[in-house]
Amino acid sequence: MNLPKKVKIVEVGPRDGLQNEKDTISAEVKIELVNRLAAAGFPNVEAASFVSPKWVPQMATSAEVMHGITRRPGVVYSALVPNMKGFEAALEAGVDEVVIFGAASEAFSQKNINCSIAESIDRFAEVARAAKEHRKRLRAAVSCAFGCPYQGEVPLEAVADVVRRFRELGCDEIDIADTIGVATPGKVRPVMETAIREFHIEGLSGHFHDTYGQALANIYASLQTGISIYHASVAGLGGCPYAKGATGNVATEDVLYMMNGLGIETGVDLDAVVEAGQFISQQLGRRSVSRAGNAIAAKRAG
Ligand code: HMG
Ligand code: MG
Repeated sequence: MNLPKKVKIVEVGPRDGLQNEKDTISAEVKIELVNRLAAAGFPNVEAASFVSPKWVPQMATSAEVMHGITRRPGVVYSALVPNMKGFEAALEAGVDEVVIFGAASEAFSQKNINCSIAESIDRFAEVARAAKEHRKRLRAAVSCAFGCPYQGEVPLEAVADVVRRFRELGCDEIDIADTIGVATPGKVRPVMETAIREFHIEGLSGHFHDTYGQALANIYASLQTGISIYHASVAGLGGCPYAKGATGNVATEDVLYMMNGLGIETGVDLDAVVEAGQFISQQLGRRSVSRAGNAIAAKRAG
């Protein structure tokens, strides 16, 4: 199959990237990061998470962040929402896209959101109805679609089942997520083909963490199935607090460098993302893990 000519990159750094940071990052820094990313041309920035602050303390300033950013017309600002309490907060904060997040693994569902997959779908159904009523975009994440830190193997049928349930809730977009970065390209094809059988391909996305260094190869394998939405995190920030040992998402700079090389249009300015990556890495006091980002920054410094 020919690769897509154009892809949508969803920048998840401000949420998936920062949620796992131990030291508190000020709302001002988060706001600056979101503004820089939106200015770089991303059509969609995952900016916040309206979850329990006891579970994910770093996201406690989400309302402040949403109120503090300069909204760029045309940019979709998304936030994670686990239940109606989160939905009310997201609505008040002016979120454009509500992201419900479930799992293809029963064990991960329990650890991450403290309920079974079936219970989570009941909760999400209420959120989905409210999102539709308020004309918000609705996206859903399927965590552990390629493997689980607690139960190991995740059967294809489990992925199919959750994707089907999310389709029935009326989701606009569904993310097939490698939460712990264990997938390899040979696994990507069957999982993505399973998802494609259950949901329109234009609405499916690949969300790859880079724990084992496979994320770019996995994205390439996924491009070969025709999927054209990918998540990435500036400077490769991130990890999930409920997936021990999992490192960040694939670095956005690396994905953009690959897409540019393949002649695939993203509409995003790589140089501006490199700068945003250097900015947030300085704020966190460590070097970016983006290979392309560091190479471009070094070249620029001469
Ligand atoms: P629970 O303890 O079962 O919830 O947690 P509860 O309903 O019993 O409430 C307990 C307390 O939390 C109460 O407060 C609630 O008010 C409060 P208290 O009375 O004790 O003071 N609470 C909330 N507060 C603020 N916002 C809310 C909210 N809901 C309840 N929305 C719950 C259940 C779902 C809330 C909890 O498990 C939770 O917040 N989990 C979030 C975990 C999380 O954010 N994980 C990381 C994101 S997922 C991810 O990274 C994967 C992804 O990137 C894709 C991939 O890579 O796979 C998306
Ligand atoms: Mg993730």
